[in-house]
This record gives sequence, structure tokens and C-alpha cells, in this order.
Amino acid sequence: MYFPHITKNKKILFFTISSVFLIIGVGFLVVKNNVMVPANDILSERCNQADAPYVDSMLPVFERVDDLMGRLTEWEKIGQMVIIEKNSIHDPSEITKYNLGALLSGGGAGPKEDTPLAWLQMVNGFQIAAKNTCLKIPLLYGIDAIHGHANVLGATVFPHAIALGATGDSNLVRRVADATAQEMAATGIYWSFSPNLDVPRDIRWGKTYETFGSNTANVAKLGVAYLQGTQVPVNKYFNVLATAKHFIGGGAMEYGTSRNKNFKIEEGNITLSEKYLRQTHLFPFQEAVAGGAQVVMVGTATWNGVNNTGNHYLLTDILKKELGFSGFVVSDWYGAYQVSYTRYDSLVSSINAGVDMVMTPFEYKDFMVNMQKALGNGDITKERLDDAVRRILTVKFKTGLFDRPEPTQEGLSVIGSAAHRALAREAVRKSQVLLKNENSALPLSKSVSKIIVAGSGANNLGRQAGGWTTEWQGIDGNYGLTGTTILEAIKSAVSQHTSVEYNKQGYFSGKDRFADVGIAVVGEKPYAEGWGDNANPSLSPEDLVTIQKVKAKSKKLIVVIISGRPLDIKKYIHEWPGVMASWLPGSEASGITDVLFGDYYFTGQLPVAWPLY
Ligand code: GLC
Repeated sequence: MYFPHITKNKKILFFTISSVFLIIGVGFLVVKNNVMVPANDILSERCNQADAPYVDSMLPVFERVDDLMGRLTEWEKIGQMVIIEKNSIHDPSEITKYNLGALLSGGGAGPKEDTPLAWLQMVNGFQIAAKNTCLKIPLLYGIDAIHGHANVLGATVFPHAIALGATGDSNLVRRVADATAQEMAATGIYWSFSPNLDVPRDIRWGKTYETFGSNTANVAKLGVAYLQGTQVPVNKYFNVLATAKHFIGGGAMEYGTSRNKNFKIEEGNITLSEKYLRQTHLFPFQEAVAGGAQVVMVGTATWNGVNNTGNHYLLTDILKKELGFSGFVVSDWYGAYQVSYTRYDSLVSSINAGVDMVMTPFEYKDFMVNMQKALGNGDITKERLDDAVRRILTVKFKTGLFDRPEPTQEGLSVIGSAAHRALAREAVRKSQVLLKNENSALPLSKSVSKIIVAGSGANNLGRQAGGWTTEWQGIDGNYGLTGTTILEAIKSAVSQHTSVEYNKQGYFSGKDRFADVGIAVVGEKPYAEGWGDNANPSLSPEDLVTIQKVKAKSKKLIVVIISGRPLDIKKYIHEWPGVMASWLPGSEASGITDVLFGDYYFTGQLPVAWPLY
């Protein structure tokens, strides 16, 4: 490039500045932050898709994919292989500029105003930016709707998977997943990062409650039900995409092996023979693939010292070839950067092992640079690129992203609907497990004269709901959540002649044993993932004192435990006549009183071992 009319000094200035912005005549590539961003060619013939086969919903998916693949530039293909957290998008035009193919809401990452309408408007805004690109490929927007669309205030909050595991009821689980998908789709979010198919063996793991429990067959049965309930066919496409996660063996991570100094088990190591890994942990994924899984999320565990995200044998030889998985593999949060020492080597290893979409989740420019470099020098082949993008596009077409009508405000009425809350109540009811019933302490009569209620979980929707509820780690309180607390459910269940008195700490002025029944609702504070890794899950000293106070002031003590896993109560349970495990029931606590007062029998079975004596 030569500009004779410019003086020498100005030339130096120009070329100094242009070292940041390099404009190459061919293709008008603009290099900014080292990313070669092709100038937008939206007016070119290539972008004229009026009668392009890929927009024709009457054609078979493979024909639409073939046509679209033939139109994509390498730059556009790379953009399909990354999923980023929505808070890294400060201007939606970044989605257009970088041809980004997927976004997610990390736990609790929602619009400023947490309402269903604001969620819908936020997602629609991102989709408009995606459709401003040459080929107008819609975004896949994913979220952890793992117990209802519970990041959204007002949504029905279903019991967590551990409670669904206690029901063992695949028809119920399918209906819960279907209802959750309906509430998600109403906000324009068509990708759920569930079901969790981990098979936990150490309940000290913070993710225990995200699983259906430690029985492999039950996990497989309920996992397939949840997946198929999520992917209910609507017209010719899935309502919402499910995600079979975390491939593979996360439930066997060993205590004390976490790579993260804040955790004990999460991001830890699995030491297992392949035979045992297959028997206990592969079977649910085998069933999920056979049952129609389109997305598998690889977890951040290491197996015998090798990081799952970079394990070609697991991801390609077993999952894609042996099980015949034809969907796409998405890495877990930063998982693709935990495989090797440098981000570049780690990314290359992950993609070549079989990861098709990288949850980066914030550094998409870094991803683009590394991918351009790896494709340029052959560390990642064009064939691997095309295989990954073809898988992703196939799933996008199967999810109807190119064809489904834009969600409207009218559709939001399904969120938190009476029908869904009734379903949640049924799920709560069927998940209750009777741990002890001395002298038929339970069920309770609805017409006793006096009931006292106390405990940290008695009037606390946040504790009922647990983690992944409007915030990643959940909330300890009622803040804006909608639903029925256990205290409210008790008041609604009893006769008009029954007096219900509540005091959180158990302070009651009546004389000893003045109440006919004392109900202490105790258990765990909300938590999620590694932050819930706990050396000895047990009741807090405050809860134990509250139970003692309630016992002293009532003729019959009932202990209701709100927790994501078994708690160590061996030293105390002999003093408690009636004890029930309510798990993390979510917004509809009336399901608890349905069995507490005998309208329904206890039918829940322990999904994980709970040593009581
Ligand atoms: C988390 C979890 C995974 C979740 C993902 C996106 O770290 O491991 O289960 O789906 O990130 O939030």
C-alpha cells in the first residue's frame, strides 16, 4: 500500500495506527484484537436466501444442512461452534459481527427486570442480532432449567431431580419435563441443560440433588423420560432441546480430588476400571442416545487422570462411534480450557477429541483467534470443523429454529400456570419419603386443637427450592418467589378449629407439651455445584436447638427435612417419633401436607442410601 501525498511523519503515524487495524484489499478483512473479522457482505448474492433450499421447511433436514454448509464461510462456521454467556454481550451487534451461534444464561443471568416478558424481550433481542447476519442462522439459547424454568421469577418451580428420583415415576417425570419445556419455549429459550444423568455414589457432592439418585437403572429410566418430555414433537420439530449430561462418570468423582481449591469433589478425579465405568455410568447415556438425545454435555471430571473434555476415546470412539451419537457434544463451563497447559493446546485437544461446541463462556474473541490459527496451521482439520458444524446445524433444524414462529407475549400465560403448579404438587407428593413413623405418629389429624410450627425451612420458599432458583446458588428467603411455603400449606390443610402457631426459632410461650403436634421444618441452605461439596452434610446447631424446643412444647414431634441429599441424623432420630424427607420440593409445598395429613399415602423411595442408625 503506498500513499505519496502523505509526509513521512504522518506515514509513521498512519502505519502505527493501522498496526491495530489492518485492511487487506482482498476480502476486506479487518484485523482487530488479532481477530480477522471479515467485512459484512450482507448485500452479496451469497446472502440472498429468498429461495435457498435451507429455508424451505418442506425439505428433509439433511438437504437443508447440505445447502447451508455450502454457503457458509469458514468464519461463519467457527461462530457456530461457540456458546457464550449472555452477560459477555455488551452490544447485540457483536452477535452479528462474530456470527455467534449460541448463547446461554449462566445460573440466574437474566434481564435487569426479572419478569417472563423481560426474558422474552431479552432473548428476542439477541435473535434479531443473529438474523442480521448474511445467512440469518438463528441462535440456540440455552439455560439450566433443571427444576422448572426456575431462573425466571414466576415460573413453576418443580422438585429437584433427587426428589423425582424418589418417585421412580417416568410418566410423572415426562410430564414435568414437558411442562418445563412449555414455560421455557414461551420465553424463546429452546435448549435445556438437563437431564443430569450422573450416578452419584458420594452424597457429599454438591450436585447430588441435580441427579435422579444412585441407582443406574432408575437414572436411565427417568433420564430418558425427562429427555423425551423435554423434546416433545411440536409440528415437525422438538419443542425444546434436552442435554444428556455430564458425560461421563461425574457421580464417581472422589472426595478431595477437585482441581478447584474451593471445592472437594466437583471437577475431581474418577478412578474406575472401564468395565465399572461402563456398567454404572455409561448405561444412562446409552439409553439417552437410543431415546433421542441430540446434545451431550461433557463434564469437567478427569477419568484415571485424563480430562473427559479432551478424551478422544470417550467422546469419539465410545459416544459417537460405539453408541452412534449423531448430535453434538458441548463442553461444560471452561471445560475446553482445562485439558492442556495453554488455552490454544487445550482448545485444539478438546475439538479433536470430539467437542463440537465450546462453552467458552466469555472469551469468544480468544476462541475465534485460536480457531482461525488452528485451522490455518492444520492443528484442527477442515473435516473436523465441517463435522462439528454439520452436527450443530442438524440439531438447530430439528429444533425448528429456522421455522418456528416468534414467541409472543400471549404465550407467557403458561408460565406458573395453575395446571403446572398442580403437576408440581403431584410431583412433591409422590417424592415424600417416610424415614420414621413410631407408634403411627403419621399421618397427622387435620382437626387437632393446636399445632406449633418452627424451623429454618418452615416459611422459606428459597430453601424449599434450593439452588438454580432465580440465582445460581438459590436464595435463602422468599424474595419475589411465588409459591406456597410449608407453613402456608399446613394452615390451608387443617380444620378451621385448629390453631397453628409459628415461630422460626421455636420460641413458644405455652407451657411444656401444650401443643398437640409440633412440626419442625429443618435442613440445608440453598447451594449449587462445588459450593455444596460438604464433608459431613448434617443439621445446623440452630436447627437441632429448634427441634428440641418444639419437642418440649408439643405432645407429638414431627421433623420435616428439606435437603438436597441425606443428612447425618443418626445421633438424634431416636428422639423423633415422625421423620420425613421432603428433599427440595420447589414452589408447591402443599404436596408435603397432602401426605403429612393423610390425604395421600407416602410412596416415595430413597433414591440414595440414607443411613439412619
Ligand atoms: C455448570 C454445570 C453444568 C451447567 C453449565 C451451564 O458449571 O457443570 O451442569 O449446565 O455450567 O450453566
